[in-house]
Amino acid sequence: MQITFIGHAAVEIKTEKHSILIDPFITGNPVATHKPEDFHPDAILLTHGHSDHLGDAVAISQRTGAPIIAIFELATYCQSQGAKAIGMNIGGPSRFSFGTVQLTPAFHSSSHDGHYLGEPCGIVLTTLENKKIYHAGDTALFSDMTLIGKLGLDIAFLPIGSYYTMDPDAAAEAVQLLKPKIVIPIHYNTLPAISQDPHRFKAMVESQSKTQVIIMRPGESVTV
Ligand code: NI
Ligand code: MN
Repeated sequence: MQITFIGHAAVEIKTEKHSILIDPFITGNPVATHKPEDFHPDAILLTHGHSDHLGDAVAISQRTGAPIIAIFELATYCQSQGAKAIGMNIGGPSRFSFGTVQLTPAFHSSSHDGHYLGEPCGIVLTTLENKKIYHAGDTALFSDMTLIGKLGLDIAFLPIGSYYTMDPDAAAEAVQLLKPKIVIPIHYNTLPAISQDPHRFKAMVESQSKTQVIIMRPGESVTV
C-alpha cells in the first residue's frame, strides 16, 4: 500500500487496485505540491465539511466520476453542487468495491458557506487487503478512541496542530488509546496558528509505546 501525504489533512491511499482520497484540500492549500488533476481516485472520503477538508472533492468527483462518501448532510450538499455522492452515518461499516468505510465520532464542528453539514467524523477504511486505516479528521481527544483502537489499526492519521484540534500532547494520549502500528501526524504547519514540532510528538509517542511515528513532508509518498 502506498500512502501519499498531500498536505494538511489530505492523503491518498493506493492499494493494489484502487486509489482512495481523503479530505482532498489541494487548491489553495499553502503546502501542497500536487494538483487536483494528479489524482484519479475510485472514491473520495470526507471527514467533515470545512473548506480545508472538502477542498477539491466536488471538482474531482465531477472530473473522474468518483463518488464522495461522507455523512448524509455533507453528501447531500456535495450532490447539490454537482458531485456524485453517497451519504452514510456514524456506525457500522459499509461495503464498497474498494473496501469498507466506517464513520466514527469526532469532537469538532462541520459547516460550509452557512450550511450545516452534519456531524464531523473520523473514518476507518478497511482495504481489500484487510489493512485498517483510521483518519481522525479534526477532533479533540476523546475516551471512545479506545473503542476505535479495538478494531486493530494498522495506520492512524492524527491531527497535532492544536487551535482547531488535538495538540501533540493530546495526540500522544490518543495513541495510547488507539494503539495503531503506525501514526502519521497531520493538520500542522499549514498555517501559523497550527505551528508544531512533529519531532517532539514522535519522541513522545515512541518513548511510551510500540507505535512507530512516520513524519511525512507534503507531497511525499511511503510504501507500508
Ligand atoms: Ni475542521
Ligand atoms: Mn481542519
